[in-house]
Amino acid sequence: MGQGITVVGSLNADLVVAVRRFPGPGETVTGHDFAVFPGGKGANQAFAAGRLASGEMPVRMVGQVGGDAYGEWLRQSLSRAGVDVTHVRTDAAAPTGLAMVAIDAAAQNQIVVVPGANGSFNPAALTAAHHAVADAAVVLLQLEIPLPTVQTAARIAREAGAIVILDPAPARAVADVLLRSVDYLTPNESELSVLTGGAPQATLRRGDAVARARQLIARGATRVLVKMGRQGALLVTESAEQLQPAFPVEAVDTTAAGDAFNAGLAFALGSGADEADALRYAAATAAISVTRPGAQPSMPSRADVESLLKSGSG
Ligand code: RIB
Repeated sequence: MGQGITVVGSLNADLVVAVRRFPGPGETVTGHDFAVFPGGKGANQAFAAGRLASGEMPVRMVGQVGGDAYGEWLRQSLSRAGVDVTHVRTDAAAPTGLAMVAIDAAAQNQIVVVPGANGSFNPAALTAAHHAVADAAVVLLQLEIPLPTVQTAARIAREAGAIVILDPAPARAVADVLLRSVDYLTPNESELSVLTGGAPQATLRRGDAVARARQLIARGATRVLVKMGRQGALLVTESAEQLQPAFPVEAVDTTAAGDAFNAGLAFALGSGADEADALRYAAATAAISVTRPGAQPSMPSRADVESLLKSGSG
């Protein structure tokens, strides 16, 4: 088995506005705050894992930025968290990925992503990063880069014996061959609904979530871990289900909570924790992230997570 964590995925600059409520179609509302934060689902997961690992295990980012100032800024953000950015390439012909994020008074978010250089990160680009993927104990994937690249990374990781965690976000139809390469598939309720042929739904009843998770298991997924916000995370296998409750916290910004969760899960599993402990670790990492604004700036240190775990809640 390999060592450390490798993330193959997206890097975005997040342009974030705070609004009291989201505008409807054709409506203009006035925001009361604006900030630019380092983001992107892949980079957020790498950043969070880097903070948790704090140099004790390698964390590597594999992805692509554009030839603009945001690209270098995103590399620097990851480096500051101890992430190896050797395999973050530059596509000089493309802009760096951008996300327009609106946060409302209830800490919910709406996100529009413009892929830029993430969209031209093709499977051939993985050749140079083959070792970074094959040498990892845990590989983290999401769906903000082209699907063939995700599938290639999953295949390399699976063949090398790594634990593969796929965050199917943003939701889109995925092939059974990809589901078969994944150890943990981690949709939220809306993504689970889309993956099983439905319309996006913000909430699902537990029984419905289990039934839909089992449809994905019948197609080849091993474990489906449904992120259900305040209700916690529901681990579904062919024959069992287990709820990891969420830690009760005051949320200010839920952006990247799912990324924090996956990074916590990867770090705990990569450190040899058993599954139940890894789920609790993931829940604690996500809980802290929602108490702080921004994507990468909201990611907790290992000491933050350990202190919440010791508090005994959740
Ligand atoms: O998961 C949160 C992320 O989604 C944001 O940082 C934004 O970049 C989008 O990719």
